[in-house]
Amino acid sequence: MTDKLRVAVIGAGRWAASAHLPGFVGSPLSDVVMICDVDRELAEARAREFDIPEVVTDVEKVLSRRDIDVVDVVTRGESHEPLTFAALEAGKHVLCEKPVCHDYRDVWRAHELAFSKGLKTKVGLTFRYAPAVQYMFHLIREGYIGDPYVFNGYEQNSQWLDPYVPIDKRIHKVKPVGEEPFGTDLSREGIHLLSLEIYGSPTIDIGLELVGSELTQLVGVLGNMVPYRRRTNLDIELERINVDDTDMFIAECANGALYSMQSSYATVGNYPGIEANVYGSKGGLKVRLVEEFGVIQTLHGAKPDAVEYVPLEVPDQFFPPAYEPGQRWDTVFYSNLVHDFMREIVEGGETNQGNFAQSARVQEIVNAVGLSHREHRWVNLPLENKDQTK
Ligand SMILES: NC(=O)c1ccc[n+]([C@@H]2O[C@H](COP(=O)([O-])OP(=O)(O)OC[C@H]3O[C@@H](n4cnc5c(N)ncnc54)[C@H](O)[C@@H]3O)[C@@H](O)[C@H]2O)c1
Repeated sequence: MTDKLRVAVIGAGRWAASAHLPGFVGSPLSDVVMICDVDRELAEARAREFDIPEVVTDVEKVLSRRDIDVVDVVTRGESHEPLTFAALEAGKHVLCEKPVCHDYRDVWRAHELAFSKGLKTKVGLTFRYAPAVQYMFHLIREGYIGDPYVFNGYEQNSQWLDPYVPIDKRIHKVKPVGEEPFGTDLSREGIHLLSLEIYGSPTIDIGLELVGSELTQLVGVLGNMVPYRRRTNLDIELERINVDDTDMFIAECANGALYSMQSSYATVGNYPGIEANVYGSKGGLKVRLVEEFGVIQTLHGAKPDAVEYVPLEVPDQFFPPAYEPGQRWDTVFYSNLVHDFMREIVEGGETNQGNFAQSARVQEIVNAVGLSHREHRWVNLPLENKDQTK
């Protein structure tokens, strides 16, 4: 088929293999034509696994190719920003993992650049694409909950409960050089923002959609329940590493709703560990995305005259095209994300859910919680136009 979008994936690591690549392979609208990783052996292994014709190690070889429509950035944190701006400058639609940038104002800049060039963007806000969450959004648009009163969000699991699990989960043969070690400022104010930014943000995103409103003020705290841990697989000793492994914030919304959020990876429970509950004048909805005994999602609803929550079946239309019962949560949710992005590009028009503008709203909240923690106070939103990440 010649009318498929031609995609290049930058980063051939674990998340590319379990989420992004199955997503592109499962969408009838995309063809992955190139994979790029500085680790050639890894890129070649992924190319064999997913039948990708071309392997490169230099990002320039991706960006200079005029026949590529979409660039997918699935590298680790610090490289997201430069790769995203370079791909947009090269005229590509961009899917990027979160955070696109640490400072929300830079995410807005990326959004404005994309918008000025007529390009679409998408961020790895994975959990809004769970079929049960897409159905929840649909029910809310149809008036199921009435006026929203309360949102409670949780994004938590126990992946770093054990202090011997290194904070850097990559398997290193030699110690990484040239990387700034984070979590070395041991003051309360110097805590390195990790759980909220990397794990909490997709549920903050869901909450914004469920309450249908901006936040006007918030207060939050960043905690570190497991203060000593191994830094890499090559370290034997535990080291004091000051990162937020557990955090909470509460907020008020412009429409009067109250909003709360907790994010942690030191709380007992399985992946991915999302719960999002919303209560309104006409009903309540509770979604749970926690893989338990083969079930990856559940949605329950209740009404004022039938207050016991009952399971709601998610209609087929909310599942990705290549869905098969028994698939893993990451494949199912990400397949919906990828196919939705491909459809938004192919169909044109203005629809572009979970784009850089939405990611900037989420990142502004992350930055505001960091500020609230450091300055021990309520923070008003929108933030003043200054660097909130320091
Ligand atoms: N949305 C989600 O729910 C979710 C879940 C898991 C991971 N992630 C995100 O996905 C991203 C990747 O995570 P991962 O676990 O796959 O990491 P990983 O370390 O396994 O893979 C990253 C790969 O990128 C390559 N790379 C780095 N910089 C590069 C560059 N400039 N050019 C080419 N290749 C480069 C590395 O060699 C590595 O192979 C991270 O940002 C992570 O936070 C998101």
